[in-house]
Amino acid sequence: MRFFLALAAAAAVSAVPEVTVVPKELECGNFPFYRQYSSVAGPFSIFADSTGTEIDGNKGTYTTISEVDIATGWFGIYPQKGYATPQVQCQAFGAAEMLAVNVDGNFQPLSISEYIYHEYDGLVFVKTVAPGAPIQPHWHYYANGTRQAGTFLGWNNSTTWAYLLDSQSQHYRIRLLTDAAQKLYEGEFAGFVRVGDPSLSD
Ligand SMILES: *[C@@H]1O[C@H](CO)[C@@H](O)[C@H](O)[C@H]1NC(C)=O
Ligand SMILES: *[C@@H]1O[C@H](CO)[C@@H](O)[C@H](O)[C@H]1NC(C)=O
Ligand SMILES: *[C@@H]1O[C@H](CO)[C@@H](O)[C@H](O)[C@H]1NC(C)=O
Repeated sequence: MRFFLALAAAAAVSAVPEVTVVPKELECGNFPFYRQYSSVAGPFSIFADSTGTEIDGNKGTYTTISEVDIATGWFGIYPQKGYATPQVQCQAFGAAEMLAVNVDGNFQPLSISEYIYHEYDGLVFVKTVAPGAPIQPHWHYYANGTRQAGTFLGWNNSTTWAYLLDSQSQHYRIRLLTDAAQKLYEGEFAGFVRVGDPSLSD
């Protein structure tokens, strides 16, 4: 049972570009900077896109949490540009290929949580044991058939995320909106999340 109903539904999901979302197979070869000899894509960055705010292009990092049985941390976006960011790459974990972040020299998988954490679900968790939903690459197409530059993160054809500035860490939390009818909470705005390099179009 989710208790997000207790939170104020402040606004309808706002103005991300109108695009047709095309999910790609969760294979490292569908991410930018794929290196065939190692079967690894990256390292690259996760960054904000299409938020219509000044944080577009801002890169991400993880914030550790003290409840280690839940996750190592959650992944968010810096409110400013120019911070050093941890390496992110796509690599194999057993039979699965997943995005992962370098935490103290070890790559830990990134996945989309279905837990409520601080009244927030759909977060990107850094989590080695029992990861949540996999993060898939998607492509976007405008109505005129042109592909929107970039590789967009999401799951099951959903690539719109809600951004909220977390006052404690001063990072934007991102949660995946898995349903177009989902509302934004007070202080949230919608956007996409890309992987790669903000200065490149792939
Ligand atoms: C994904 O969403 C688009 C609309 O953005 C729709 O046209 C397409 O059929 C969906 N694909 C799947 C696999 O659900
Ligand atoms: C298609 O639409 C997008 C978004 O409006 C625009 O940026 C792009 O230039 C258009 N492409 C063509 C070929 O008209
Ligand atoms: C994936 O999206 C489709 C279309 O919105 C939905 O019917 C389906 O339940 C979703 N899959 C999961 C596992 O939630």
